Order: sequence, then structure tokens, then C-alpha cells
Amino acid sequence: MGSPNRVWTAWLFVACAHWCFCSMARNKMFVEPSHVVYEELQSVSPALVNDELKPRYHFRPPRNWLNDPNGPMYYKGIYHFFYQYNPYGSVWGNIVWAHSISTDLINWKALAPAIYPSEPFDIYGCWSGSATVLPGDKPVILYTGVDPEQRQVQNIAFPANLSDPYLREWTKPDYNPVIPPELGVNASAFRDPTTAWYAPNKHWTLVVGSKRDRRGMAILYRSKDFVHWIKAKHPLHSFKDIGMWECPDFFPVAAKGRQGLETSEYGDGVKHVLKVSLDATRYEYYTVGKYYHHMDKYVPDVTSSDDHTGLRYDYGNFYASKTFYDPAKKRRILWGWANESDSAYTDKDKGWAGVQAIPRSLWLDDSGRQLVQWPIEEFETLRDKHIIVKNKNIPSGGFLEVQDIQTAQADVEVTFDVASLEKAEVFDPYYVDDAQAFCAKKTAETKGGVGPFGLLVLASANREERTAVFFRIFKAQSKYMVLMCHDPTRSSKRESTYKPTFAGFVDIDITKTRKISLRSLIDHSVVESFGGGGKTCITSRVYPSVAIGENAHLFVFNNGAQDVKVSELNAWEITEPEMNDEIIY
Ligand code: FRU
Repeated sequence: MGSPNRVWTAWLFVACAHWCFCSMARNKMFVEPSHVVYEELQSVSPALVNDELKPRYHFRPPRNWLNDPNGPMYYKGIYHFFYQYNPYGSVWGNIVWAHSISTDLINWKALAPAIYPSEPFDIYGCWSGSATVLPGDKPVILYTGVDPEQRQVQNIAFPANLSDPYLREWTKPDYNPVIPPELGVNASAFRDPTTAWYAPNKHWTLVVGSKRDRRGMAILYRSKDFVHWIKAKHPLHSFKDIGMWECPDFFPVAAKGRQGLETSEYGDGVKHVLKVSLDATRYEYYTVGKYYHHMDKYVPDVTSSDDHTGLRYDYGNFYASKTFYDPAKKRRILWGWANESDSAYTDKDKGWAGVQAIPRSLWLDDSGRQLVQWPIEEFETLRDKHIIVKNKNIPSGGFLEVQDIQTAQADVEVTFDVASLEKAEVFDPYYVDDAQAFCAKKTAETKGGVGPFGLLVLASANREERTAVFFRIFKAQSKYMVLMCHDPTRSSKRESTYKPTFAGFVDIDITKTRKISLRSLIDHSVVESFGGGGKTCITSRVYPSVAIGENAHLFVFNNGAQDVKVSELNAWEITEPEMNDEIIY
């Protein structure tokens, strides 16, 4: 059995290895704000954008670099979405707040960037932040600016014209910054203000991500008028030895049911969620807990861990996420950035980098222990040609090709029946806190008892190239453990690509259900999967060398000793939505 120390050390090793890999592969140093800076590439745009593996239905600009989602909101019948964008190149740099609008969160029209460096309080950077819609339907943005002393400060911006539903122009008052880093605050680790909530003490309240030494912190500020902000004595929450908390998000969820709650909701039947993006690992963690309003203190439930063993929205390539409340459909929606796994030099050559994952509705699971996520229903309007496969046994070592459908741009939903658990392998408790390492050891190639079974997506006809999305069921001491994996180790011939296995456990009682569902959204170089009805999600970026366009195949596979059955599989081709045709800058 792995002692906590051993697990922690192993985790640190994996984290460092990941970190070092990226920095070595990219041959550069990390600098604040934790993005690699390639001065020589920042403003280089290729004459011709290479579209071959460019995602078609995920949110992205037509070219260049994208990172964090910023300030999502709904205003006068229109969804607004802003994001960190480099108008001049496809690596991080020259960041502005690009702005897009939509009526369905799927088809997007690009507007001119809303916020860009122009004033002393943001001349060296307009970084991430959030929108709050104040009473009377008045949107306001708070974002991080970098000033000439390289300090990170929090600024406010208002729409120039509230009668323009597109909110095209934003003004930044001269009294900015509204939240400077005061004494005791680390000015180079002080960023990404959240949406504010109106607390029962009649103050607007928000948190800013930070760290003190190695302690990750969500520093709390209060204001009566949204302009004058005062730092609270204690952070909303903090955790030792973890490093910088980027892009915090704090919001209420209903204890029962799927309905989303407006950010200021509190009281009976309301739980809270705090999510942080951990700079040290580039992964995100969230806890479910209780918000004590009178003290402005958040305490995670005992079932929610604050460290690296904690819950993640997505166990893959998904970072800097942000939710917003959609009053039109009374739901809370999650946006998250899925970066490339290619080298920066490849990104420069192809002329684009970064997508947003498909917006997901999110709610608290009946167990109260974790969130559940599902692609927003509007996504289904893109479904086109449809194939159904029913009641097909997949014997041990068997395959089934899903034919007569193009699958480079597809949505696949499949339910597996697992008739017997007798052959389940014995669970190695060493991996209880490290699904990812477990999956790296037991890849899709490694024969098992019950599983690995699942899908081979973006596969070549001979299956030599493929990304495997699969489950494996183990017998632990008192229960069965369901492991969900993405294994892209054979996804491409490209050497420069980072091909990590990603994994999470799925909290279902397989002895009761005897079934498990999987949905994978495939979009040329994106594979975004939802296991157990959205209890465990994994996103990967992969770059096939052969399985491109018409040459991409889809298989069901079973590499376990136990037969499994596809009780039903539905696959749809996905059409291309309107996607930010041109950004005028
Ligand atoms: C997260 C982040 C934020 C910062 C922004 C800059 O990816 O580092 O902390 O505000 O990106 O682009």
C-alpha cells in the first residue's frame, strides 16, 4: 500500500516530469503568468494557416493563439464570451480580451477585441477576469492588468453603450486599478478575479487567485459600490504547499436537482463549489463544501480533498475554466481551455493554437460528493447523419468497426453491458490517488480481466494509429473500482507531440448498474469524453498522421478476458457551426 508520502512524492515527480518535459521540449523558461514566453514567435503569423487537424465545432478563433475563457455572460438575449487571445501569433503573448457573441453558445460571431492594453494600469497585459451582471441588467468586467512596475492589479471596465446588445465597446475608468496589491500581497501572483456575489452582509464579494510562499490562496475583497474594494482579513480559503491558485471560481449549486443557481444564491438547499487552477501542475481541482457567510469562509466537505488527490472537472487537458449562470435556461455552464499538445514551433507553423471545450452544464450529483457535467443541449443541433448499433457482443480480444459514417468530426454515445465481474483484476491500492499513473501502466494494449473495453477513435484502418478511450474494472477490498482512461500513446507519428495517458475513477456502483456509458466528442484533434453519464470527463489533444478526415475510423474494442456487450451505440456526424469567421483588429 502506498503511503501518503510515497503517493505525494510520486505525484510531485509526475508533475515535475510533466513540467520539465514541456519546458525542455519547448526549450524555454516558464515566466509569470506561467505561460512559456517565446519572444521570437509571439508576433509571427504564417501566410497560410494549416487547417488539416483544426477543430471544426469547438470554440476557436480563425487563427492564432487562445487561452483562458474570460467573462462569460448572458445579456439581453445574447451570450457573450471573451477569451485570452494573441492577435499576432499562435504562441502566448500580446494578450487581449477577444470577444464573441452567440444566441445558442454553439454558433459564434467574432467582434473586435473588447479589452486591450492601453492605460498605465494594463499596458503590460490584459489578463483573465470575470463579468458580473449588476442589478438593473448592468454588466461589468473585472480583469487583471499588468502595470509598468510589472505588478498585477485588478481593473474594472464598463460597457460604453448599454443599449448595444453586442456590448461592442468597453471603457476603463481612470480611477483604475480598483484593487492594487497592497502590502503583504504578492504582486506577481495576484490575478484572475471571480464573478462577484452579493453577500447577506450587503457587500459585493469576490476572490482573486494568489499564493503566499507555497500556500495557494483565494484572497477575498468586499465592496459596497463595486468600485471601492477592501481586502478581508482572511482569505475565503487557502491551502498549504500547493503553489499559485490561478483562475479561482466560486459558485453555489443546488443540493438536489440539476437547476443552476445565480452566483449570489445562498441558504438552505445550497452547497458551494471552489475550483482552482493549479499553476504547479497545470491541472484544476475543485471541492464541494459549505460557505459560512457571516465569516466569509468556505470549508470543503470531508468528502472533498483540497490537494492533488482532489476532484477534477476533467482529468485531461482542461485548464483555467470558468462557469457562469445562464438565466435564460436556469443552468450553470462551464467553459474550459484545451491547449495544444504540440510543440510551440509546430503551433507557429500551423497558425492556430488552443480551443475551448464544448460548454458543459454542470450540477451536483445525487451523492452530493461531486459534480456531473454534460455538453449543453444546443450542441445536439449540430448532429447530422446517424448510425445505431444494438446488442453486439464484443468478445475477449474482439473489435467492431462503426461503419458508414465519417468519424473525424463526430459525437458517439455508447452503453456497455458488463454481465459478469468475476474476471475483474485485483486493484492495486498504490494507485488509489493516482489514476493517471495507473492508466500509464495499464494502457489499452495491456490485456485485463474486465476491460480494457471502449472506443478507438481517430484510428487508422489497421488500428495501428488510434486514441483509445476505455474503462477497466477492478476488484478492490470492499468494492469494484471503475477506471476511465484516454490512451493517446499511439495517436500519431509526430515525435514532438506530448502524448500523456489521462485517467480518472468513475464513482458508480457497477455491481448494481452492470452498465456503463461513454460519450466521446471527436473533432479532428480534440477528443472530449464523458464517462458514467458525465461523472468523469477527460479531454485530449491528438494529431493523427494517418487518421485524418475521411481516413479516420472508429472501432469498439475489448482487450479484457471477459466479453462485454454494446447494448446501444449511437454515432452522429457533426456539422460545422458558424465559428468566428474573421476577427477585425
Ligand atoms: C492561466 C493564466 C492566468 C492569467 C492568464 C494570462 O492560464 O496564466 O492566470 O491571467 O493565463 O493569459
